[in-house]
Amino acid sequence: MGCPDRAVEKQGAGAALNNNPTLAKEIITATHKGAGNLPVSVKTRIGYSKNEIKSWLPCLLEENLACLTIHLRTRKEMSDAPARWNLAPEILKLRNKISPETILIGNGDINSLDEAKLRVKESGFDGVMVGRGIFGNPWFFSGKVPSPAEKFKALKEHAELFEKMYKSDKNKKDGKLKNFDIMKKHFKAYVSGFDGAKDLRIKLMAAKNAAEVKRIIASF
Ligand SMILES: Cc1cc2nc3c(=O)[nH]c(=O)nc-3n(C[C@H](O)[C@H](O)[C@H](O)COP(=O)(O)O)c2cc1C
Repeated sequence: MGCPDRAVEKQGAGAALNNNPTLAKEIITATHKGAGNLPVSVKTRIGYSKNEIKSWLPCLLEENLACLTIHLRTRKEMSDAPARWNLAPEILKLRNKISPETILIGNGDINSLDEAKLRVKESGFDGVMVGRGIFGNPWFFSGKVPSPAEKFKALKEHAELFEKMYKSDKNKKDGKLKNFDIMKKHFKAYVSGFDGAKDLRIKLMAAKNAAEVKRIIASF
């Protein structure tokens, strides 16, 4: 209930539910019914155009959720503004008052395991969810600092998996490969923080497939 994608919002779904609490509640009720004994959780934002935690979060917390995850930005802020961790005490109070059994997870701008632990400690939340912090950093949860060689190995594997998975995706109507350009947004995260990284990135941007990524890295 926080997705800002236009196509999702057009259907009244995602972040648009923020402006239709009655429907949001109906959806949760129906999900509980369909889920039987399975836990039901919601992920949302702090509001649509402004901070609306006082009115919006109680609507959700009244619905007997196993877990509520809050992306600490408004829909309008997308993922651009800094996440508002300063709202954590107020959110925690609401949870404790309305639904103390609901697990509370905070989300936004967590870039390391240490930061994750600190946010949990400072906020009093039950946990945190990591978004973009994991991009190009599969070592996130081990806390390990990878060498350039380890980053290259991961990038090559990632590029190969990208090809393999999108090739074998039977749900795609045309069965075609996804454009390799989509993979390129991950290059910067793997190829940075060492001498020559920028030049290598420029070369990699011209790669058309995983084999070319491998060849360019090998010659580097
Ligand atoms: C490429 C991308 C895809 C995402 N897809 C989803 C999604 O399917 N469902 C969801 O709840 N959030 C999705 N998000 C939002 C993230 O879960 C998270 O709320 C957001 O990135 C803020 O956290 P961060 O500051 O740690 O990145 C997506 C974010 C990105 C960048």
